[in-house]
Amino acid sequence: MSLLLVSKNRNLKPYKKALLDLDPNLDIEIWPGINKAEQVQFAVAWQHPANLFEKFPNLKVISSLGAGVDHLLSDDTIPESIQFTRIVAPSLSGQMADYVLTAVLNIIRKTDQYTDQQRKAIWKPLSSIKKHDVTIGVMGLGEIGSEVAKMLVNNGFSVTGWSKSKKSVNGVACYAKDELGSFLAKTNIAVCLLPLTPETNNILNLELFKGLKKPSFLINVARGDHLVEEDLIYALDTDQISHATLDVFSEEPLPESHPFWGREKITLTPHIASVTDPQESAELILENYKRMLSGMELLHKVNREAGY
Ligand code: NDP
Ligand code: OXD
Repeated sequence: MSLLLVSKNRNLKPYKKALLDLDPNLDIEIWPGINKAEQVQFAVAWQHPANLFEKFPNLKVISSLGAGVDHLLSDDTIPESIQFTRIVAPSLSGQMADYVLTAVLNIIRKTDQYTDQQRKAIWKPLSSIKKHDVTIGVMGLGEIGSEVAKMLVNNGFSVTGWSKSKKSVNGVACYAKDELGSFLAKTNIAVCLLPLTPETNNILNLELFKGLKKPSFLINVARGDHLVEEDLIYALDTDQISHATLDVFSEEPLPESHPFWGREKITLTPHIASVTDPQESAELILENYKRMLSGMELLHKVNREAGY
């Protein structure tokens, strides 16, 4: 029996080491150096190559190496019988909370603009936005979104939240899927933490931007395909959105010629808002591996029908 680690763009050695630190007897293969394909029953994947999983006749479970599972669900060569799980971990929510707080503080205290002024030796106080004058709306109150919303409340912000089913999060004004209009009308800073599904693809579009309270801002830390890129540029150019913070893009790495680079009203980072920690994820992966071997229910199973 062996465990497969596969990714086209992530160094998997620290994850292998963390797993072996927990159990030196594990037999772990890292793609592409696979010797015993028929022995692989459990795979851990992040951006895998097309058609890869067809090569493993005894594969039963694939765990995403992250919170998102869109990279697995979009691969229709993976048989329905294979179960998907994902990473749910305190450090994933914690890093995301730090990232979102940084982005919000940058918006209200204009730190990007001061950095730019410093480079040009410009001494010029700018008007700042008062904390109490903005409401932050978290789209997706799941494992990560609900922690982000709580952190914002604890930092004294007014917070709204939107999810498929109505949630109850202390201090957060929660809205259900069919209450999107009311949620947007109360929200200045929209933070997207939705999973990417057919329902949420392209959800960050001009119509949604128009529904936000002014001044309006966007923080997209979920997936690039949530955003209609040309709508964002139009909304920024017509002042419907004052600033956007983007960590994720439809094409990653973001091509050098992309119009987002160098735009004053966009702050962008290379998909680093929250990165799966090798030690923390190894415990969960090993637990699920043992559960699979003993026929027990897996932790953090993905509902393939719902798409997350
Ligand atoms: P969860 O699956 O735990 O939560 C998803 C939330 O979205 C739930 O509240 C769900 O509602 C809601 N939702 C799903 N579909 C809809 C819909 N159609 N309308 C309204 N709400 C909807 O996800 P996580 O919190 O673990 O992660 C969220 C996403 O964050 C990941 O899928 C990933 O793409 C992204 N991510 C990005 C990272 C980065 O570094 N940039 C790092 C980690 C994650 P309900 O509760 O009712 O089911
Ligand atoms: C994730 C991510 O989904 O890093 O975990 O994007």
